[in-house]
Amino acid sequence: MKKFMSAVLVSTLSTTMVMADPVDDTLILNEEITLVTRTAAPAHMADAVDEIMSGWLFRGTETRAMQMDDFDNPGMIFVEKGEDLWNTAEGSEGKSCASCHNDSDSMAGVRPVYPKYNEAAGEVRTLEMQVNDCRENRMGAEPWKYTGGDMTNMTALLASVSRGLPVNVAIDGPAQSTWEAGKELYYTRTGQLELACASCHEDNYGNMIRADHLSQGQINGFPTYRLKNTKLNSVHARFKGCVRDTRAETFKPGSDEFIALELYVASRGNGLSVEGPSVRN
Ligand code: HEC
Ligand code: HEC
Repeated sequence: MKKFMSAVLVSTLSTTMVMADPVDDTLILNEEITLVTRTAAPAHMADAVDEIMSGWLFRGTETRAMQMDDFDNPGMIFVEKGEDLWNTAEGSEGKSCASCHNDSDSMAGVRPVYPKYNEAAGEVRTLEMQVNDCRENRMGAEPWKYTGGDMTNMTALLASVSRGLPVNVAIDGPAQSTWEAGKELYYTRTGQLELACASCHEDNYGNMIRADHLSQGQINGFPTYRLKNTKLNSVHARFKGCVRDTRAETFKPGSDEFIALELYVASRGNGLSVEGPSVRN
């Protein structure tokens, strides 16, 4: 496992980095399902890290506890809102999601394989893109804002019915070129601080950066309820925040760049359990 301090990171952020191991703890949901928060890294990461870990292992005791019980997890309120949306008819066809897909439980197994290549459309789709495709082309309804409340409530619902299932995005075949573009972005240093995602989340996870315990930047827990802004945060909103922290120009949520980056980052978590909605700082 690579675990050296990046000189660039230390000097440009002029912060003292203290190493702190992720906790040795087991995430059991509602005293029922044991989630995989730590497992062998997928083959494509062989040169980078041996083990992949959920961000849950890097959070404090209380934050971790909140995610272990649905009654304590503030993200579950938004799952309920997602369920209401699921059953609401909208658009020119007078249909709801449920009209075609039945119970939201029928979506179990979908979250873990997204982003996914869609044959008919000839594109890699995030879950958000697929939801909006159904809204526009199947319901005759307006698309939701990519990182807006309705969309994130819906992705929270879609994640929640897959909790415990392993992330398993395809990176070969027609998805490969998108995956490679995402990988390129992950390792490209940007901004005044000249930092790449990898500078923090591959070379320095486990270290403290200011008051924050750096994780591997996994997305198996998305959307995440953050105690910091007391709302659900989507994957692309988080990417945006992290890029901004390097003082670089950021990409737009839903952009080709963030779609590719999402596929790549998701693939770094292949094997971890879906946890969304998770609880983070
Ligand atoms: C009129 C029927 C219809 C309605 C209404 C509808 N969908 Fe779909 N949906 C489909 C069809 C058909 C597919 C498969 C099409 C494809 O693969 O492009 C699909 C695919 C999906 C998938 C991907 C499933 C997978 O296995 O990859 C998701 C997620 C989804 N819909 C979510 C929703 C949500 C959320 C809503 C409500 C906002 C909704 N759909 C409304 C017909 C519908
Ligand atoms: C300057 C260091 C730094 C850089 C560079 C950085 N991040 Fe982060 N990132 C953080 C910190 C700090 C957190 C909050 C603590 C944690 O979960 O690691 C975080 C959190 C995250 C999370 C949330 C993890 C979870 O479990 O909820 C994701 C996802 C993420 N980053 C992705 C990225 C991506 C993708 C890039 C590159 C575009 C990136 N980060 C670049 C510092 C950084």
